[in-house]
Amino acid sequence: MSLYFRQLLGGEHFGRRNPACGQMQNFVYLIGDKDTKECMVVDPAWAVDDIVDVAENDGMKIVGALATHYHPDHVGGSMFGFTLEGAARLNARCNCQLHCHTEEAAGIRKVTGLSQGDLITHSSGDKVQIGKIELEILHTPGHTPGSICFRLRDALVAGDTLFLQGCGRVDLPGGDSEQMYTTLTQRLGSLPPELMLYPGHAYGGMSAPLGEVRRTNPYLRVKDLMQWRRMMG
Ligand SMILES: [Fe+2]
Repeated sequence: MSLYFRQLLGGEHFGRRNPACGQMQNFVYLIGDKDTKECMVVDPAWAVDDIVDVAENDGMKIVGALATHYHPDHVGGSMFGFTLEGAARLNARCNCQLHCHTEEAAGIRKVTGLSQGDLITHSSGDKVQIGKIELEILHTPGHTPGSICFRLRDALVAGDTLFLQGCGRVDLPGGDSEQMYTTLTQRLGSLPPELMLYPGHAYGGMSAPLGEVRRTNPYLRVKDLMQWRRMMG
């Protein structure tokens, strides 16, 4: 079994001609099976052709997409007066469906223009198979209601739920500070420290073991809900 895993940084590996892409520091991930040469794209946005080129240059075929959440810098759509390409463009180019959480489907349809038939919706604990590689979906609400992380062997692809420094904003529509607290302390709190965190933005770094992030990220060092409420205003 041979894992294919690429971490692509906005402004460097894709979207080089778009200054906003470099500023936002989004990560896109390619995950797949080197034996079957199939892969999926986590959070296809900004510059779909660049992302597809990386996969094709590696000899991989894109057979699906995975969305950590519905924000346009992760799936495409309108943001800050700009229109970003994303999951809809990937769907048109590769004819592949987008996996997401059930609670995120409406938001994804709204920002991307995709139809329900273009989506494969999931609950927490569901598995997604790419060749012989298996991803587990963890529902991690807080940044948005249907935010998810993907667990893959010794890695956690976390979207905007958790960065090396900080966590996703909870003051945007659908954000919920107390749900984020539960997600960080219980859902992610029970995961093994050796799991490598791969975040949705390069805030504070590209990847690190969860155990190290627990020591260095102030949002994981909160003692209790009272302190969390004070910290989050
Ligand atoms: Fe986000």
